Amino acid sequence: MAVTKEKTLDPDDWRAMRTLGHRMLDDMMNYLETIKSRPFSFPPMEAIQNICVPLTREGEGEEKVYELFKQHVLPYTAGNNRPRFWGGVGGTGSPYGMLAEMLRAGTNNAIEAVGLDSAGYVHKQVIEWVKEMLDYPKEAGGVLVSGGSEANFTGLAVARNARAEVDVKSKGVQEVPHRMTIYVSDGGHHCLERSVELLGLGNESLRWIPSDDDHKIKLDALKMAIREDKEHGCYPFCIIGNAGSVDTGAFDDLNALADIAAKEKMWFHVDGVFGCWVKISKTHRHLADGIERADSLAVDLHKWMYMPYGLGCTLVKDRLAHFGTFAYGHEAQYLKAGIDLIKAEGDPLSNPHYLALPLSRSFLSLKAYMTLRAYGRDRYTDLIQQNLNQAIYLGELVKKDPDMELLAPVASNVVCFRYRPKGLDEAQLDKLNKTIADEINKILFWMVSDTKVKGKFTLRAAIVNHRSRKEDFDYLHSLVKELGEKALKDVKI
Ligand SMILES: Cc1ncc(COP(=O)(O)O)c(C=O)c1O
Repeated sequence: MAVTKEKTLDPDDWRAMRTLGHRMLDDMMNYLETIKSRPFSFPPMEAIQNICVPLTREGEGEEKVYELFKQHVLPYTAGNNRPRFWGGVGGTGSPYGMLAEMLRAGTNNAIEAVGLDSAGYVHKQVIEWVKEMLDYPKEAGGVLVSGGSEANFTGLAVARNARAEVDVKSKGVQEVPHRMTIYVSDGGHHCLERSVELLGLGNESLRWIPSDDDHKIKLDALKMAIREDKEHGCYPFCIIGNAGSVDTGAFDDLNALADIAAKEKMWFHVDGVFGCWVKISKTHRHLADGIERADSLAVDLHKWMYMPYGLGCTLVKDRLAHFGTFAYGHEAQYLKAGIDLIKAEGDPLSNPHYLALPLSRSFLSLKAYMTLRAYGRDRYTDLIQQNLNQAIYLGELVKKDPDMELLAPVASNVVCFRYRPKGLDEAQLDKLNKTIADEINKILFWMVSDTKVKGKFTLRAAIVNHRSRKEDFDYLHSLVKELGEKALKDVKI
């Protein structure tokens, strides 16, 4: 019988693979170094046709596929690495973060468990640093997750299980005697609604409470909604505070929310996905006062901490409740030896495998660990401060311009503004600014995004970009003016 050679994905020729790897690294460094001058484009048909192909049986080879990536994928990726990207809340990553990602993939570490492997201690240390930077209580625990949505989901899962009137872990939400209701301002992120749905609570249980002119939740309206829900037999169990709302960057009065939650014996969760990082700024720390009183806090590191996507973090004060929510109902026998070791040597309450949905981990903590340790807290303070100052600068450009206006106060790093020549009504202004947004998107999709603020169409810059410079905001200001003037002439308003 002929002997077939056993197969592997390791290269036959390590030297050739190393050469290819060096080329990839050089290419990506060149890409990042020249990111400012790279034109933006949506993928043309040729690129799409080259991407969407049948999978071959025999494979096309590493070199060829890399060339395809360079030619058809890389040039048409989204624009969020660029210095003039302020749409959505788009993080920029960093070259060192990219290198850390390579190391992460190289180790391919599936475990991050204190007592078992080094990655467990790396994870634990990152959680310590995040708590420390955010002035969150030392005794709290936490877990790194894929991003802000998962960070909120994780915190709200703990809230549900900790506060439900039945043991949700065994009975499910099927047996709760009263509808569990949850409260957030009308500026809350839509991922919260998704979490509430996935947690089996139903989106009708999420009460969107009106916000005031500063886009903070109206406390009286919140109190009234809780009272009315109780009168109608519901069980109000959780208040969500915004620490940096996605549309306007507004902060709720977190201390007031913590007071209400304490009085009503409700869980207090804060969505501070990007905004909580004002805590390490010099000028805006106070906005996040009260964050330390949250029972759970959702944070991410891939937007305003400039780390590679996807990286978020959930901090929870009641570590047992957190552990209890995600710990497996029964022990898997195939993991028993590892689990016994972790229990004996480690600290199960710090073990991320018991604190979030995935079983296998992907050494998420490494990119946070390496970038935080390499650059140190002061560098992040300076960058966050720089973005806050840039938001103020852009806000001033708008305020000084008689043909423009702010549509929300510049509370933190988000600027909502529109072109507003005299003599147009609201419908015409919406249409004019929509035309401006469409034109901007052709230059760089989501250079700024648009949204509605109190029903008015607005351009919106969310500044979480370490590559932006002051002149980039001068450019944005004059671009909006130029496009606005042109649209006024061309578009029949
Ligand atoms: C306030 C807020 N919460 C949650 C999210 C969702 O985070 P992610 O996109 O990381 O899932 C975002 C995203 O921008 C956000 O701004």
